[in-house]
Order: sequence, then C-alpha cells, then structure tokens
Amino acid sequence: VYLLHPDPWPKARHAKRRMVNNGPLDLIAAKLKPGGEFRLGTDDPTYCRWAMMVMNARRDFTWQATHPRDFLERPADWPETRYERKARRRGHEVWYFKYARA
Ligand SMILES: C[S@@+](CC[C@H](N)C(=O)[O-])C[C@H]1O[C@@H](n2cnc3c(N)ncnc32)[C@H](O)[C@@H]1O
Repeated sequence: VYLLHPDPWPKARHAKRRMVNNGPLDLIAAKLKPGGEFRLGTDDPTYCRWAMMVMNARRDFTWQATHPRDFLERPADWPETRYERKARRRGHEVWYFKYARA
C-alpha cells in the first residue's frame, strides 16, 4: 500500500484528519499480509515527524530502514508522482518510509 504525499493538515488542531493516524492505519494493517509493505512518501517536515511518531508507537508495523539512504533516496521500485516532481522542483526534500506488516 502506497500513501504518497497525503495532505499534511498542517494545523495541530486538524491533526486527526491526517491519513497517518490509527484509524486509517488499522484499515491498512487489516488488508496487508505479514511482510506486506506500507510505503509513505512526504516532503512535509511536520508530517514526517508526525508519521514517525505515530508509526513508531505501532506494534503491527516495522520500519525497514537500516541506513539513512533508505529514507533519503527514492527506492528504484517506488513511483515518482506528479506532486513529488513539483516538490523537488521547489527544492523540497522528500522522505520515503517503508514499513512491513508484522
Ligand atoms: C498533494 S496531493 C498528492 C497527490 C498524489 N498522491 C501525488 O503524489 O501526486 C494530496 C492528495 O491527498 C488527498 N487526500 C484527501 N483526503 C485526505 C486526507 N484525509 N489525508 C490526506 N490526504 C488526503 C487529496 O485529495 C490529494 O489528492
């Protein structure tokens, strides 16, 4: 399952609307077999921190990164979306998170 550049809902009071929250993640977890991957891409630093915090608290997903390049460089099998191209053109960094379903 890919979640690529979801709207960040940047205001703290709107954080519950973000896709990376336990409600949507429970649905994604229910669809994935053990070892199946949930992949998240974002160029939003607030969303990046938020996602790491929410995902780190979950016991049903394991972050796959073993080296900084794993989340700083787009994996070869990861599609570049229109939004990502625009973000890169604007000089934004993009972060790539791969989580495996436990
Ligand atoms: C910045 S666009 C990215 C579009 C595309 N995935 C790409 O990378 O080119 C964000 C997309 O998230 C969708 N979206 C809708 N509801 C959302 C929600 N609750 N949380 C996150 N994203 C949402 C928007 O409709 C929009 O299409």
